[in-house]
Amino acid sequence: MCACCRLLSGKEVACDLLLEVKEAVSKLSGRPPCVVFLRVGNADASVAYVNQKKKRAAEVGIRSLLKVFDSETTTEQMLIDEVKRLNEDASVDGILVQAPLPDSMDFIKVINTIAPEKDVDGFCSINMGRLIQSEPAISPCTPAGIIELLKYYNVETAGKHVVIVNRSLIVGKPLSALLLRHGVLGDATVTVCHSRTKDLRSITQQADILILACGRPCCFDRFYVKKGAVVVDVGISRVPAQNERGYVLHGDANFEDLKGYVAAITPVPGGVGPMTVAMLMKNTLKAYHLCHH
Ligand code: GUN
Repeated sequence: MCACCRLLSGKEVACDLLLEVKEAVSKLSGRPPCVVFLRVGNADASVAYVNQKKKRAAEVGIRSLLKVFDSETTTEQMLIDEVKRLNEDASVDGILVQAPLPDSMDFIKVINTIAPEKDVDGFCSINMGRLIQSEPAISPCTPAGIIELLKYYNVETAGKHVVIVNRSLIVGKPLSALLLRHGVLGDATVTVCHSRTKDLRSITQQADILILACGRPCCFDRFYVKKGAVVVDVGISRVPAQNERGYVLHGDANFEDLKGYVAAITPVPGGVGPMTVAMLMKNTLKAYHLCHH
């Protein structure tokens, strides 16, 4: 890493955030906050993500339960019925439905069933609507984590051109809303790109801050990036390799090519990933307070 290029480590920031949550949880009287994870099927990535979330929850004193549904025999209605039951359960503060769901289920329909105050992902239409209106809401974890990361490393966004290569409900849409807000860590000029964007390179080259989340490992090298830009890499892909695990993790950025060329870059792993999980713990604590109001 060249001296002029900063590594935006998410591990460090996440560690601070988790300590804050742990301390706050330890001061609560009564039962600890409780989050329920609903996972349909056993896709490797989903299993790994949910396990990570459970592990962090235990570390900060948050109780978590995992309910696994068979992808062959579970219907959308069965999942919705479970969400409705958890909405009514006073011992549960947070509900998270891990994406993706099988093609036979409508993710939006399922998450819109979650009570907004228990929606620790911040994906339901009420929380998304509040976010767009800049009203108090539970914010989606990955975008909120990116904002926290930029804040920690004093990366200004006001007046900057932020290019996001992702238009999903999980990253691109909510992140654009956060960056467009008036005030600190907002006031950016935001361009959202996607698979149908024409001449993507000519747009990413204009970014002061480039957010990558398209799942194309190592694709974005210096031909896509302005010299001195800040690169936030949300992509995380398993690339086959001859090691014990049989794969290595790569982001969308070509890290080796960019590290001496950009002003700052997040590593993969250890960048945005830990931030997402830390924000989920913060959101669970927030949900606990909303549920105990
Ligand atoms: N799948 C990938 N990222 C996420 C996330 O942040 N929340 C949920 N529920 N599913 C995901």
